[in-house]
Amino acid sequence: MGDERGVEEVHDLDPREFFERVHSFESWFHSVEGYLTGTEYGHRPRLGERPLPPAERERLITVLCNYCVGETAALEGASGLVGFAPNRPTKVFLSTQVVDEGRHLEVLLHRLGELGVVDPEAEVERRANPAIREFRRRLLELVASKDWEAALFAQNVVLEAMEFTVFQSHARSADPVTAEVLAGIVKDERRHIGFGENELGRRLRESPHRRARLSEVKRDLDALVLDTFEETLRELGLPASERPDLGRTYLAAVARLGFGR
Ligand SMILES: [Fe+2]
Ligand SMILES: [Fe+2]
Repeated sequence: MGDERGVEEVHDLDPREFFERVHSFESWFHSVEGYLTGTEYGHRPRLGERPLPPAERERLITVLCNYCVGETAALEGASGLVGFAPNRPTKVFLSTQVVDEGRHLEVLLHRLGELGVVDPEAEVERRANPAIREFRRRLLELVASKDWEAALFAQNVVLEAMEFTVFQSHARSADPVTAEVLAGIVKDERRHIGFGENELGRRLRESPHRRARLSEVKRDLDALVLDTFEETLRELGLPASERPDLGRTYLAAVARLGFGR
């Protein structure tokens, strides 16, 4: 099934084949049914849940609140991009992404509820990191200005590649329920990153002058996301030796588009 391919493999597909394969609900449905069938709110219903020690639960809640801001930004960003995407197949892909991001937000809010948070919405407002909130604000500005390449780069490369790496690292050390929720999200994010790279890669080959604008966006925005996720990994108590991995997928993705760090 296509969803099992890694980001690199998706990227290696012939651009035309990629365009035809991923820009459809047909492909989306076959992907998600492979890993969501039988789950409820992103995890198997009878997965044994042990109560977390209070300090660990507190840290997890804060981290999930930050993820909720990232997913809200992606949901609002992707839905805004539908309005000025350059062609119909791209609008179709983005509509599958809107569904994915809405699902991510839903399962994360639900997970907060499972952890005993009575009002997840208020908790996100209370705990979320100012840097990720600022990223959301700037992303939505790029969307409002209908700057297709810049908004897509900020969302489907900068935000998604970092989320992908952090969710993967977190899933390795998380409790079984959170790990399963994150593993499902990561599979969706792979498609989104692949789409962003494919679309931007083609445009940069056609019009190399666009690179300067994207370098500007990268310089403005990547620190905000990087700061948030570095803090996330500290919250999770991951050893320092694992932290350099944080930007790996992100750096690989921007390197494939021809940007250095
Ligand atoms: Fe997402
Ligand atoms: Fe995404």
